[in-house]
Amino acid sequence: MASESLSSSVNAKDRAASILETNGFILSATIGSGSYATVKSAYSQVHKTKVAIKIVSKKKAPDDYISKFLPREIQVVKLLKHPNLVCFIQSIETTNRVYIAMELAENGDLLDFIKGHGAVPEAQTGVWFHQFVDGIEYCHQHGVVHRDLKCENLLLNKNNVLKITDFGFARNGMLSADSNRPKLSETYCGSYAYAPPEILCGIPYNPMLSDIWSMGVVLFTMMFGRLPYDDTNHKILLHQVQKPPVFPPGKNVTEDAKDLMCRILSPAKRRIQMDEIRKDHWFKRIAPKVNKKLSVQNKKESKVEVVEPEAINNDSTKSKQGGTEKGALDWKPEKEEKKKKATNKTKKETTPQ
Ligand SMILES: Nc1ncnc2c1ncn2[C@@H]1O[C@H](COP(=O)(O)OP(=O)(O)O)[C@@H](O)[C@H]1O
Ligand SMILES: [Mg+2]
Repeated sequence: MASESLSSSVNAKDRAASILETNGFILSATIGSGSYATVKSAYSQVHKTKVAIKIVSKKKAPDDYISKFLPREIQVVKLLKHPNLVCFIQSIETTNRVYIAMELAENGDLLDFIKGHGAVPEAQTGVWFHQFVDGIEYCHQHGVVHRDLKCENLLLNKNNVLKITDFGFARNGMLSADSNRPKLSETYCGSYAYAPPEILCGIPYNPMLSDIWSMGVVLFTMMFGRLPYDDTNHKILLHQVQKPPVFPPGKNVTEDAKDLMCRILSPAKRRIQMDEIRKDHWFKRIAPKVNKKLSVQNKKESKVEVVEPEAINNDSTKSKQGGTEKGALDWKPEKEEKKKKATNKTKKETTPQ
């Protein structure tokens, strides 16, 4: 019995590898896993570079995920093209699985980074939070809400540029045509630890404002190296989210940064909106200067260089991200950083606490 199931899983692996090979991908190691997906790195023979492939088993995932959320995820990622969103390359569907090929984020996710390094220095938090705001503002302007923003879904590429991923709970068309105001959501999505009070109370919510709350939870987690709310007990959690955040003592976080966190982690009625985040004192003060480069000390490796995001792509590329073959041919890996140039410039060093 055991050897039968072992051989069937070996066969399944072989089949997956051969389907991907037919599409020009040589499958490699597992680099992550989530609720229903395994993510592996692969080499794309078409693009001549490493990519990531999210593999979802139709048999293992719940029916509503396969019939509703997964098709939405694919639809949404095809629409979006921004330097701070993981770029979609191609989707392949077979009887038993769905494969989503995308840009690889070599430095893994933000949760692992924080687990490895502890709290992120404020200057670096500023760089990543700016990139986060750029990516989510772009989504919201296109009527897309993410609804599952958390550190595990924020990736870092080899230049430590932040890339938002996992649009598994995302929805598009959330701006009503007449007023350009967001429609309300009723379905609960995401993790409790990142959920705003209105979701925890089960009332219809503005999903853009709820994304902003989750961004505040990520900001706090970067600054303090731990989550602001305890999600192990629903009653305690509900109580905590309805009060201003409590900042751990002994951390050297500036008052204007705390002020922004308080303005984000507020009741929906008073919560700061994206355009107000852009005008916020800390957000403007910490703004990465053009051409300024920062680096953080990596405990395991020698040094991780952190660069500014590239200029925002305009929408003309949007429709090209569509169908399977088209997406695959259109996607180009980001250009290599010109290393010589970078080392000539003044670097500001920040060390994680
Ligand atoms: N493009 C990628 N590059 C590198 N790692 C990735 C990539 N996509 C996902 N991962 C890793 O795999 C994990 C699960 O992927 P995700 O898309 O979030 O799946 P799920 O929908 O199951 O949560 C992520 O948290 C991350 O650690
Ligand atoms: Mg995920």
